[in-house]
Amino acid sequence: MAKSKSVFFCQECGYESPKWMGKCPGCKSWNSMVEETIKASSGRVERNAQRETSRPIPITKIEKTNERRILTKMSEFNRVLGGGVVEGSLVLVGGDPGIGKSTLLLQASDQLAQTGQKVLYISGEESVRQTKMRAERLGIQSDNLYVLAETDIYEIENRLKDLDPGFLIIDSIQTIYNPEVSSAPGSVSQVRECTGHLMRLAKTRGVATFIVGHVTKDGAIAGPRLLEHMVDAVLYFEGERHHTFRILRAVKNRFGSTNEIGVFEMKEAGLSEVSNPSEIFLQERTAGTAGSTVVAAVEGTRTVLVEIQALVTPTSFGNPRRMATGVDHNRISLLMAVLEKRVGLLLQNHDAYVNVAGGVRLDEPATDLAVALSIASSFRDRSTEATDIVIGEVGLTGEVRRVSRIEQRVTEAVKLGFKRAFIPKQNIGGWTAPSGIEIIGVSTVKEAMEQAMGGSKYGSATAKNYQ
Ligand code: TYD
Ligand code: MG
Repeated sequence: MAKSKSVFFCQECGYESPKWMGKCPGCKSWNSMVEETIKASSGRVERNAQRETSRPIPITKIEKTNERRILTKMSEFNRVLGGGVVEGSLVLVGGDPGIGKSTLLLQASDQLAQTGQKVLYISGEESVRQTKMRAERLGIQSDNLYVLAETDIYEIENRLKDLDPGFLIIDSIQTIYNPEVSSAPGSVSQVRECTGHLMRLAKTRGVATFIVGHVTKDGAIAGPRLLEHMVDAVLYFEGERHHTFRILRAVKNRFGSTNEIGVFEMKEAGLSEVSNPSEIFLQERTAGTAGSTVVAAVEGTRTVLVEIQALVTPTSFGNPRRMATGVDHNRISLLMAVLEKRVGLLLQNHDAYVNVAGGVRLDEPATDLAVALSIASSFRDRSTEATDIVIGEVGLTGEVRRVSRIEQRVTEAVKLGFKRAFIPKQNIGGWTAPSGIEIIGVSTVKEAMEQAMGGSKYGSATAKNYQ
């Protein structure tokens, strides 16, 4: 009989320890270690079995086969997956509860079922009737889409063998359990065991599997690190619950590029695709207000134009606050330090709030200059032109550094009617700017500010705000 041992797992990050600890050394969260019993032998048996069959092959002898991809009619979904669903792949879809994961996957299931292959949708959270009600709302009527309310992994395996579908959806992994593992569904060892099981099924049977994973309070999928290593792709479904826009983002993809985003809008009858996100993101912009600039950010293979808003106000309590949504908080502090030291803006007694409109998250350095200009514009209370686009990375000496794919960015800006582009001087040359836009190369933040906000440095009505 297999010996079992008891291990403590951190429920936040999956850290494993032989003894209980108050604070997890992995993720530093308190009181997150829970005792779970695992079978000591199972891992070893598997490893031995694998060793017998695998043999090293010279890399030149490996036959190249293009993985088979199945395209759905949702091109945003295809794009995030790197060009369609790969046969036998295991994809994790994470997101906050209620954000629309089940809706997205049910709609995707319908699309996949229409390709003629069977789809098995395992609903661990909702009854078959609830799923049917949702499907009706979404107008789904495919005969090839099968629904099963089941949470036992062995039962799921049996039904999978009976039905032999091309696609399997597990909604959600936190409800699935293996009866041989004693801990509760949703615990680290259950989630790991079941994902491992699904991985083997996906690979041996060639069934493309989507796993829904809930996100913990810190925004990580429960047992995240181990899950992210196991699967082929990790997609996050993000958005503000009170807004209708949803962004599907690839954070890991063995079959395509990451940082690819797909934009959807949640409507009465489910999710619909947004094929031109720039227009949507700029829709609510009030042109010509201080503290707002537009940047052209590259997300995967696509350029999106987004508005960066900043609000700089005098601090009323001792410590100035710096708050950021959609951009890295530390980056804001850094850019403010650059503005202070290299441009001479006295920001140390000011609170700063920076927001990327539309719920997008930007982590590209090419957005630095736009963030800096937004902050400076709010501080000086002088707006930039509404038809300006700002692109560039900012270095610590206040220099504006070259960015990638400048042509692509400028082209997108022209499409949306922008008339002036502030770009790094280093990026000028080697490409032809499209007509209809004036290109202004800048080499420092200061220069960009002077050019974009016009007039003399001291010429504003709020001259007291700056040095
Ligand atoms: P759901 O897919 O159940 O979220 P998750 O699986 O991520 O928990 O989505 C639930 C939300 O979506 C719910 O608040 C209602 C909304 N919704 C619509 O607005 N339109 C629709 O057609 C559907 C099915 C859901
Ligand atoms: Mg759900």
